[in-house]
Amino acid sequence: MRTARDFRCGLICLLLLFSVPVSVGASPSPPPVGEMIAPGVVRFFATAAERAHARPSLCLMSPHPAPIGPIPDSWPITPNFGRVQGRPTASVAIAPGCDLYGTGEVPGPLRRNGTRTVAWNTDAYAWNAGSMSLYQSHPWVLAVRADGTAFGVLADTPQRCLIDLRGGIRFEASGPTFPVIICEGENPQAVLRKLARLTGTMPLPPRWALGYHQCRYSYTPDSRVREIAREFRKRDIPCDVIWLDIDYMDGHRSFTVNTWDFPDIKGLLADLHADGFRAVVIIDPGIKQEPGYHVYASGQRIDAWVRTADGRPYVGTVWPGACVFPDFTRADVRRWWGGLYGPFLDLGIDGIWNDMNEPAVFNVPGKTMPVTNIHRADPELGGTDTHARYHNVYGMLMARATFEGCRAARPVRRPFVLTRANHLGGQRWAATWTGDNVATWRHLDMSLSMVMNLGLSGQPLSGPDIGGFAGAGSGRLFARWMGIGALLPFARGHTGKGNIDKEPWAFGPEVEATCRRALQRRYRLLPYLYTLAREASVSGLPMVRPLFFADPADPRLRDVDDSFLLGDDLLIVCRTSPDSAPPDVFPPGNWWRVSIVPGDLDDPDLPAVYLREGAALPLGPIMEYSDQRPLDAVELLANLDATGQAVGQLYEDDGDGYGYQSGDYRIIQWSVQDSPSGPEVSSRVLEGGRRDRMPQATAHIVSDHPGKAPRGTQKTPDGIQSPD
Ligand code: GLC
Repeated sequence: MRTARDFRCGLICLLLLFSVPVSVGASPSPPPVGEMIAPGVVRFFATAAERAHARPSLCLMSPHPAPIGPIPDSWPITPNFGRVQGRPTASVAIAPGCDLYGTGEVPGPLRRNGTRTVAWNTDAYAWNAGSMSLYQSHPWVLAVRADGTAFGVLADTPQRCLIDLRGGIRFEASGPTFPVIICEGENPQAVLRKLARLTGTMPLPPRWALGYHQCRYSYTPDSRVREIAREFRKRDIPCDVIWLDIDYMDGHRSFTVNTWDFPDIKGLLADLHADGFRAVVIIDPGIKQEPGYHVYASGQRIDAWVRTADGRPYVGTVWPGACVFPDFTRADVRRWWGGLYGPFLDLGIDGIWNDMNEPAVFNVPGKTMPVTNIHRADPELGGTDTHARYHNVYGMLMARATFEGCRAARPVRRPFVLTRANHLGGQRWAATWTGDNVATWRHLDMSLSMVMNLGLSGQPLSGPDIGGFAGAGSGRLFARWMGIGALLPFARGHTGKGNIDKEPWAFGPEVEATCRRALQRRYRLLPYLYTLAREASVSGLPMVRPLFFADPADPRLRDVDDSFLLGDDLLIVCRTSPDSAPPDVFPPGNWWRVSIVPGDLDDPDLPAVYLREGAALPLGPIMEYSDQRPLDAVELLANLDATGQAVGQLYEDDGDGYGYQSGDYRIIQWSVQDSPSGPEVSSRVLEGGRRDRMPQATAHIVSDHPGKAPRGTQKTPDGIQSPD
């Protein structure tokens, strides 16, 4: 029997037949050769000879994925390979109604149709909507067809690569021909799961990494760090992590400490720990070329540096002055680099921030090293080759060396690494932030689509510099940014050297009150956020999702930039310009506006939070930091569905370490049902063998009569209903 869906698919195939191939100007080419490498995943090469000589992939889990069979007859998409001005291209036509996403860390709108991006990791200080290359490269496009089915196209090349979405999907690389991998799925979620199986998932972060982080360039001296920490606790504003930017180092030399400003860093970090803070410090790849500096000396011993075309160590200027750059394409260099972390972490450092790893070089064209530089890469990465091949993976391999070094140094703790530069697949080693943004409304707006598109490109753990790195901005902008940033996966306030203060209290009491509520919301939501992080680490599904995830076939949801889904159950409606009305596009169903902390419904600078029909949201207590108290009770906010039920899940483990890998975790499912005597809650453990006491759950029903009270009706956790 033919269904409406079959009909839609037929229609789309017809449209595909008639849609214009987009390899404009490309010379005709022989039919590509392809092979299935996973169910619903086909890898294509331009020719059989290219398949025979394929170089290792730098983004896939397996550098040479093994074929599992021929392409099925029903396979819907074959790329066209060609050449334009000597450069290899691959293109895929799209039918009308097909919307494009992904392409990694990109400014501008969520929906990428009509855009061009150049995958080339670039130090893009104060980037703008027109910047074509930012810090990371994700040669990957997610395509959602009119009927909600989806596919993804991955150009498996680390080289500089234009992603041209002006008339379909077209990749044009500055380098050798490259294979193209196509994932087919019944919806975007299915495609992202396939991408995750190909390129890996993020490791489960320590729970504290989901708390709030406070940074600036730079908190010095140590007394200022203590003051910042004290202020958070005194003002009752939740915070988990204080960050040390480059001025904690001795002359910006990585793995050293400026003992003038930080005479007792160990004591400082111990005191921070005693107050419930963690510390993350920055480590840059540029190593000062200076005899006597221990990192330079030990790197010299293994001849660790990237070389120039004529075989000398390449020297470029970065923060410390003239620097050499570790060649992370070599396992021995990664081991040496990783080994530097052991003694360093022993100072009491909890996480590492890898920056400037595009790699950034000052005062040279293109702000990076010459593409003719030489990496003596291991054979499994493709062997010795120029920087043109390894540029886009430099930051990813640095993050990998850092992650592996931290893991080896402290096997019982989960590493937390943040990196600025990265590549498709790099989520396996590090979280990210969106670089040096600017304190403007436009940047606040763009941070949402960037975080969403990163999530649609395999990187679930990202966020912007809350408040803007460059420029002052206003108190209102700061308040809104904190309101939104507190609900993104990685929440860190940061700002540049010489800029005004941007701590939550820096703009006066009114903004401070909004920031407090924003961050208290985050801590109430921490059990949910941690559950989403766990889901991302298993399935690859992003924590922040575009609205069309709720109904991929609904055309209204395809280009909503200023609302997002946090997991499946929460809809966050943001106002990203000073006077704009909140967007009015909602996914189907009754979404109920809910209060997460007292006063948040009345705060116009906080985004509105809506709960999905049928969802029960577990809220934890407001805390000063994430492991201040064990989670022994949760409040379930329940938005009953038409059958009078709401269901929610919670993932729990130790919050750090690897006990969860041998069963010490638990996924609890709660069901809430209305009854004449009040809400009834039942629970069951879906997974895991954790033995400690389950959190006690109490429920609040936010929707009295499903179907009768649409979105816009509010109810606070203590049951007070107020008009929207
Ligand atoms: C870069 C980083 C920024 C950092 C600064 C100093 O600009 O993007 O976050 O504060 O370097 O380390």
